Amino acid sequence: MEISEAKLGNGFLGTLPDSEETPQIVIRDLWKIFGRDPKRILKGPFKNMKKEIIQKKTGCILGMRNINLEIKKGEFYILMGLSGSGKSTMIRNLIRLVNPTSGSIMINGRDITKLNNEQLIQFRRDTFGMVFQHYGLLPHMTVLDNAAYGLKIKGLPKDERYARAMPILETVGLRGWEDYYPGSLSGGMQQRVGLARALANDPEILLMDEPFSGLDPLIRRQMQDELVELQDKLKKTIIFVTHDLHEALKLGDRIAIMRDGEVVQIGSPEDIVTNPADDYVKEFVRDASPSKVLTAGSIMENVKVLLYAWEGPKTALTHLNANNRKSAFVLNKFHQLLGVTKMETLLKLISSVDKPPVIPESAIRKITTVSPDTILEDLFPIVSENPYPIPVVDSDNRFLGVVTTDQIFESISVSEGEENA
Ligand SMILES: Nc1ncnc2c1ncn2[C@@H]1O[C@H](COP(=O)(O)OP(=O)(O)OP(=O)(O)O)[C@@H](O)[C@H]1O
Ligand SMILES: [Mg+2]
Repeated sequence: MEISEAKLGNGFLGTLPDSEETPQIVIRDLWKIFGRDPKRILKGPFKNMKKEIIQKKTGCILGMRNINLEIKKGEFYILMGLSGSGKSTMIRNLIRLVNPTSGSIMINGRDITKLNNEQLIQFRRDTFGMVFQHYGLLPHMTVLDNAAYGLKIKGLPKDERYARAMPILETVGLRGWEDYYPGSLSGGMQQRVGLARALANDPEILLMDEPFSGLDPLIRRQMQDELVELQDKLKKTIIFVTHDLHEALKLGDRIAIMRDGEVVQIGSPEDIVTNPADDYVKEFVRDASPSKVLTAGSIMENVKVLLYAWEGPKTALTHLNANNRKSAFVLNKFHQLLGVTKMETLLKLISSVDKPPVIPESAIRKITTVSPDTILEDLFPIVSENPYPIPVVDSDNRFLGVVTTDQIFESISVSEGEENA
């Protein structure tokens, strides 16, 4: 098989097997310089200087330097890098929210840097769906109208808009929420609306700029899992920006790592982890050993049965019986964890003389808890000493989820499989 090589800015060779089809997106020699008369930078001696020197000497900010990359149709492509490395600039150039200083961006064989305004508007509408960190929903519109917003812009009649948006809301798990306003939804749900809005147009390419960064760890993980599942069906081309290595490894077919406006390495998740191109990339993947990187918050699960102290021993017992459990965690009205209680303890309470209306503290055994940022390595001794799933609580002792021995070992073997496959 022939290998085509793209020589990148700093000498790194980004290789892509010559596949049957031409890549859907081909970026060549792309530069973006912000500031006054940016083209002068490309002509003069500043061209090859460091970003901060260019800035100091000319006042211009280097957004992207000589980017060359190719993205295949249906590929899940990750852009990763420190803050200011040029990830959002790249996304904005793809839809020409900003215009490149030089270079070409071919999408479906068409150089989009050459489109006039009218063509550009049409092209954006037809080709792209966008999801951003701050969901960008319209607060005075219902969930359904938000999801159907792109179709409204396209000029579709209401009936048709709704008919198309409804099944997509269902796909993203929001059935029943159509008539609510975004303000009454949680962050995760609002981001689902954002995703539905992007998908309603049935775009070929989805651009996602840190879509999950504002979400709690458990919700974030759930959204990642759902996106993986969704992509399995949709097979869109997705360009996804993240700071999070584990998100990148979990979602990406390929990852491009950016620094100071340059792409320093392109590879599959395992390439990046096993052969980091330089110290910068090494720093990103340094602790990629799952037991050092994964945290209780990133692997915790929901529990099926939770008991509420104020509901009393009888209700608690009914819950245990209905779920075939011998014991469960007990929470107070502030969702704080009190401990664990057992079926036999509850039975004793019910048959006792004073029949307490709530589960008393004496019937609840205190247990070891962990915080969401406890790393797996530190969880091992705790799970091996404790017979229960370990509760994860926040700094106010509010219950978040549990980690189990099985979950810990599963997440390690999955991650290791990914890295060494
Ligand atoms: N409109 C602008 N005017 C001037 N400079 C800009 C503009 N937009 C971005 N930049 C500069 O371009 C560089 C890349 O910014 P960009 O927003 O693409 O970074 P990023 O990788 O998305 O960072 P983050 O992770 O913080 O979102 C930064 O140095 C930034 O200051
Ligand atoms: Mg950004």
